[in-house]
Amino acid sequence: MQPMHDRPRIYLDNAATSWPKPPAVYEAVDRYQRELGAAAGRAAYREAAEVERLVADARRGVARLIGVEDSSRVVFTLNGTDSLNSAIHGVVRPGDHVITTVVEHNSVLRPLRYLEETCDVKVTRVPCDAAGVVDPRDIEAAITPQTSLIAMLHASNVTGALQPAAEVGRIARERDVLLLLDAAQSIGHLPLSVDELNVDLLAAPGHKGLLGPLGTGLLYVRPGVENRLTPLRQGGTGTNSEDDVQPLRLPQKYESGNLNVPGIAGLGAGVTHLLGKGLDEIRQRDEQLTQRLLDGLAAIEGLTLHGPAQAAARVGVVSISIAGYDPQEVSATLDAAYRIQTRSGLHCAPRMHRALGTFEAGGTVRFSLGHFTTEQEIDTTIAALQEIAAAEI
Ligand SMILES: Cc1ncc(COP(=O)(O)O)c(C=O)c1O
Repeated sequence: MQPMHDRPRIYLDNAATSWPKPPAVYEAVDRYQRELGAAAGRAAYREAAEVERLVADARRGVARLIGVEDSSRVVFTLNGTDSLNSAIHGVVRPGDHVITTVVEHNSVLRPLRYLEETCDVKVTRVPCDAAGVVDPRDIEAAITPQTSLIAMLHASNVTGALQPAAEVGRIARERDVLLLLDAAQSIGHLPLSVDELNVDLLAAPGHKGLLGPLGTGLLYVRPGVENRLTPLRQGGTGTNSEDDVQPLRLPQKYESGNLNVPGIAGLGAGVTHLLGKGLDEIRQRDEQLTQRLLDGLAAIEGLTLHGPAQAAARVGVVSISIAGYDPQEVSATLDAAYRIQTRSGLHCAPRMHRALGTFEAGGTVRFSLGHFTTEQEIDTTIAALQEIAAAEI
C-alpha cells in the first residue's frame, strides 16, 4: 500500500461544502479583501460603487442560473439554514398547517417542530418509499384549508434521491399553497428553473454546488410572495435612510445589515464558472461519475447502497452501509488508510434514517461528489471499499 503521506486528498464531502473551488473564486475573495474593502450599497466612492456592481453581478448570475429575469427576487442570506428559516418563519402563522416530508434536513424539521410546539401550527410529515422518494399524491392528500406551506427538499442529502418537485409544484399552485423548495443538494448540479417547477420560495446555500465560500446562501422569492413573507430581521439597508420603517422593495426588505461581500464576491465567481460550463454538461458528467460509483459499489459483497440505483434519479450523494461495521469506523478507516474524506452518521436527517432503517446503526457512510471529482478518485474509492468490506484492512 502507498504510504499515507504520498496519497492525494480525495474530498468526497461536497454535500457539506464544496472543495476545491475554481481559482476565480479564491481570486475574487482575495481581490475584494485587499483592493476593495468597502460595504455594499452604502457610499458613492469608487471602490464602494465597484462593490455594489460586484454584488449586483453575483445576484444576476444566481438569477440566471435559476431561470429568473428580475434579479431583485434573489435575496442573499448566511447559508441554506438561514434561507429556510427566513422562509418558514416568514410565512407560517399561528393556526396554519404545513406539509413537509420525512426526508428533510433538520434545517426544515427543526423550525417546523419549534412552530408546532410553540405557535399552534400543525405539521404533516409525509412518508417516503424504500429509495427515499416521496409520493406527490401523499402531499396532495394532506392539504387542508389551513395549509399555508409545503416545505420539501429537491434532492436528499442522505440518499441523493431527486424528489418529484415539478408534480408537487403543480399541485401547490393549483391548490394555492406556497411551495418552499430546499435546493441545497441540487442547485449548481443540474438545470433548475423555478418557473418550470412552480416554486414560490427557493432556499439554497451558496457554498455547496454553487462553489461560493462558507457563509453564503440565497432565497428566491416569487413575485407577489413578498406580501405573505415577513422579514425575520429589520435594520439598515443603505436605502430609505430617512425612514425608520423597513423598506418594502426587494431585495432590501430581506437584507438588513451589511452583506457578506467577500463571500458574495466568491459566490459570483463560482456561479460564473458554472454558467460558463453549462448546467446540462455539468449534470451529464455528475450522472456519469455517480453511475460509475453506484455500479462499483453494487458489486461489493456485504455493502448496502441506499437510494435509487440509477444516477438519473439522483444527485451525486451516495450513502452506504457495510455489514458488521459502524459507519464512523468506515469513514475513519477511509481517511486514515486512504485519505478519502467522507461523512458518517445521520447527516442532520434523523427521520430519513428512521425511514431507511439506518437510524439504530448510527446512520450511513456518505460519499458526495463535487465539480472536480475525477474518475480515478471514484475508482480508488471503490477499490478501498472492496478492501474494507473484505476485511483486508
Ligand atoms: C438538504 C439540506 N438542507 C439544508 C442544508 C443546510 O445548509 P447550510 O449548511 O448552508 O445551512 C443542508 C446542508 O447540509 C442540506 O443538505
